Amino acid sequence: MNDVLIEPLSTKTVDKVCSLAASLFDDEVQSPEIEIRRSLSKKSYVDTFTGYTVSNIDYWVAIHSASGTVGFIGLYENNTDSHEAVWIGWFGVHPDFRRKGIGSQLLDCVIERAKERNKKYLRVYTSTYFAEEQALHMYKKRGIQIKKTEQYEPEPSLDVHYLELLLTAKTSVQ
Ligand SMILES: CC(C)(COP(=O)(O)OP(=O)(O)OC[C@H]1O[C@@H](n2cnc3c(N)ncnc32)[C@H](O)[C@@H]1OP(=O)(O)O)[C@@H](O)C(=O)NCCC(=O)NCCS
Repeated sequence: MNDVLIEPLSTKTVDKVCSLAASLFDDEVQSPEIEIRRSLSKKSYVDTFTGYTVSNIDYWVAIHSASGTVGFIGLYENNTDSHEAVWIGWFGVHPDFRRKGIGSQLLDCVIERAKERNKKYLRVYTSTYFAEEQALHMYKKRGIQIKKTEQYEPEPSLDVHYLELLLTAKTSVQ
């Protein structure tokens, strides 16, 4: 979609991104706002769900030429595996702008940015609460594969998938 540009999160876009993220992930245990805002202040924080210290956070925003902020995605590291891995953070597209390739643009952007961090792996977890089929389809298409599936503790009827991409391997969109 050529009327959408991906740019780094800034003080101009952060409020819109936080309210879009809050509307998409309103049932999550942890608010996306903490991580998104910390990406600008460059401060680490302790994730209340995992107990991990999250640092080196960066976010990017999808800006539609007429409608403004329509999507976002982040990268972060956590203290348990920062020697080898970078993680995909909160990722979403406004419901009115889905199925136009914006999510794919955002995901391809962070895969490229992740490679610049010189880590071995790009990791992401996703719960089956969301329409995970779409996200899983996108991840698998880029070679990001499920490594482990666990029961989601706050809601035992759901699972959490942990996925991983070997960044040093040659990857291409199929
Ligand atoms: C996942 C999400 C970011 C995808 O954004 P998007 O802009 O619609 O993504 P795209 O338009 O680039 O579509 C990506 C792929 O998913 C497919 N797809 C998108 N919506 C779909 C749907 N409702 N049903 C089936 N496939 C779908 C597209 O066909 C495309 O596949 P292709 O590349 O093989 O053609 C968006 O659906 C979303 O914000 N979901 C809620 C939050 C979420 O689940 N985030 C991820 C948590 S880890």
